[in-house]
Amino acid sequence: MLEKLETIEREALAALGGVEGADDLLRWKQRWLGKSSELTQAMTELPELDPAERHQAGRRVNEIKTGLEQAHAGRAEALRTQAVARSLEREQIDVTLPGRPQPVGRLHPSTQVLRQMLAAWRQMGFEVYRSREVETDELNFGLLNMPEHHPARDMWDTFYTTKPAVIMRTHTSPGQIHVMRERAPAPIRVVLPGMCYRYEQISARTEIQFNQLEGLAIGRHITFADLKGTLIAFAERMFGAGVRTRFRASHFPFTEPSAEFDVECFVCGGQGCSVCKKTGWLEILGSGMVHPVVLRNGGYDPELYSGFAFGMGPERIKMLQHRIDDIRYFWANDLRFLEQF
Ligand code: DAH
Repeated sequence: MLEKLETIEREALAALGGVEGADDLLRWKQRWLGKSSELTQAMTELPELDPAERHQAGRRVNEIKTGLEQAHAGRAEALRTQAVARSLEREQIDVTLPGRPQPVGRLHPSTQVLRQMLAAWRQMGFEVYRSREVETDELNFGLLNMPEHHPARDMWDTFYTTKPAVIMRTHTSPGQIHVMRERAPAPIRVVLPGMCYRYEQISARTEIQFNQLEGLAIGRHITFADLKGTLIAFAERMFGAGVRTRFRASHFPFTEPSAEFDVECFVCGGQGCSVCKKTGWLEILGSGMVHPVVLRNGGYDPELYSGFAFGMGPERIKMLQHRIDDIRYFWANDLRFLEQF
């Protein structure tokens, strides 16, 4: 009898090792611990044994039964753990997880301010004219009333190419000549946005590349009053209705008369602060009546036609609006800066 019990235990445990899955496990339990199992059968046979053997066999039966029940519980637990591990392995997509947000791109701060400006000019009937970034010396300077060796050229430090007289434009003003030559003698109302390049020492205040937004209006009877009214209307669209503005006499070779245009400091409201350097005013652009020489170079008779022009720096204006103290941030490609806009 004892031998038989040992065999039952050995076989049952061996069979348990091969059990895979819940169905298998249930079948094992019926087979080795159920009503018609060999162990239960052995129990019914106990009374037939002689007392000494019966006592010993009875104890072994109970021990084996408890042992098998524990082994069963252990196997069930191991199978559960295995099943979870396998499903994690196989079903790596958890459809119950919340979705990950897609990072959304955004416009570069220069593009933002340029578009804001273009929207204001569009409302006033100005069309965008795209002009080239690589220019001839003649268009960048000569035809804008700055012949060779003219001292005014010193205001624009220039990048030269390996091709003689081909340069990177230092301002958007040469676009004036392109558009005039293309359209003369028709009236013109355009803005010319784009990148300009200067051979500068890079610092917090100067970069070797930056955008400009040029404007040009040509027609009959265009006066300085039109220039003033138009720029004031632009300032109101850009900086808010009622913003105070002022014109200051200035000089540019391609305009006569020339003026610089200031808006009331939008940081301190004209009180005087570090942004406006205690003046209460922020200079935002240069402007003037198109010089007769420039009109003629563009194909317009200065006796019959007149016009005004202006040029502004979008990055400079963005810097004033957001109190950005270093122009180098614009092209440094640092997301910590770019993501703030
Ligand atoms: N081209 C000038 C510059 O880069 C800006 C400018 C001033 C443009 C006056 C104009 C103007 O059209 O009328 O400094």
